[in-house]
Amino acid sequence: MAKDRALKIAIAGLGTVGVGVVKILTQHAELMGARAGQAIEIIAISARDRSRNRGVDLTSYSWSDNLVDLAAIEDVDIIVELVGGSDGPALTLARTALAAGKSFVTANKALIAVHGRELAALAEKTGATLRFEAAVAGGIPILKSLAEGLAGNHISGLYGILNGTCNYILTRMEREGLSFGEVLADAQRLGYAEADPSFDIDGIDTAHKTAILAALAFGTAPSMDMTIEGIRNIAPVDIDYAKELGYRIKLLGVARQTEEGVETSVHPAMVPLAAPLAKVMDALNAVVVQGDHVGETVYTGAGAGEGPTASAVVADIIDIARGNSYPAFGVPTDALKDLPAMPPGQHKGTFYVRLRVEDASGVMADITAVLARENVSIESMLQRGMAPGGGVYIILTTHLTAEAAVSSTLKHFTKLECVLETPTMIRIEAF
Ligand code: HSE
Repeated sequence: MAKDRALKIAIAGLGTVGVGVVKILTQHAELMGARAGQAIEIIAISARDRSRNRGVDLTSYSWSDNLVDLAAIEDVDIIVELVGGSDGPALTLARTALAAGKSFVTANKALIAVHGRELAALAEKTGATLRFEAAVAGGIPILKSLAEGLAGNHISGLYGILNGTCNYILTRMEREGLSFGEVLADAQRLGYAEADPSFDIDGIDTAHKTAILAALAFGTAPSMDMTIEGIRNIAPVDIDYAKELGYRIKLLGVARQTEEGVETSVHPAMVPLAAPLAKVMDALNAVVVQGDHVGETVYTGAGAGEGPTASAVVADIIDIARGNSYPAFGVPTDALKDLPAMPPGQHKGTFYVRLRVEDASGVMADITAVLARENVSIESMLQRGMAPGGGVYIILTTHLTAEAAVSSTLKHFTKLECVLETPTMIRIEAF
């Protein structure tokens, strides 16, 4: 039976996502109320500029200039934080709201990746609920899938395309044969990429999301202790060679349990063209999860934008209204495991290596001598035409080997006189 009292919401931050949440809750008020079992009422808002026309009617909500004040409004049941940033006002608001026993819904991946354990423990202490579905892969209900739909499985690994900006850049580089810099400049001109896009292109945004996914998947606290590599160094020539070898380059967030410990990392990887992740183009996101009983499941959809992100925020609100208050990371914080992390360089896999070398006799012998010394076994070797800037490209793919051995091989290659530029190494991820 529906409750008489409405569920009262306060929203901090009225950018694209905040406006999307207001639209869903007002346009579909009856349906949302039916699903929640009580009416959902926005009562207060805090944002930077009160006079800005956001295309939605905000006149019936009380306005606070200081977002932390929202936590002091007695009637409020849920604070929705859409401000961003791992520290500063968002963290203060989260702490204040949860300490006051108010449930907290956020799209803020940095906040949860860095302070998730503390905030989850605070929520447990006061009986509040902490939810952050919109923080990872926007509209894809991947956290709910891990916490609920896949709860019967031991998760051995997951792989995600978690940053739409990077996927958009890599897609256009491939389709149009453009350089990374050219696509980035165009994406910024069109408003797709931030003026300071480093969080996206250097892999930090993907790392925040990977940390949260790993925590839900493995029952650990979120941790940013991982290797992070973005897409700045991906060249069109690597995209072309990837295709020739049967792969497509994607920026992946990876979390897997191995005998050497938990491996979490963010890196560009060559993905087989037939794999589901290779087919995820433009700004779409996708996650592949491997469970022991369910096998492989694949989730794909829009990872950002007004509608998809607001859809995830509203789902969290409805979950809380329904009293579906499982622990933020799937298990209570005192049951979160402290699994050992895989030491750096221990990753075992296959690798793509591109060298620009002098076109002279004896070069191949020098290269193979280094490979033999480092005990790195080659699966294939390609050489085609001349490289721009002089010399020729040699493309190697390795058999299964430790990353540390390939890194050491690359250092030795760099010392060879015949090697004309720093070699490129890209992981091959075989799904
Ligand atoms: N900046 C992110 C992306 C969206 O490009 O996917 C928000 O997480």
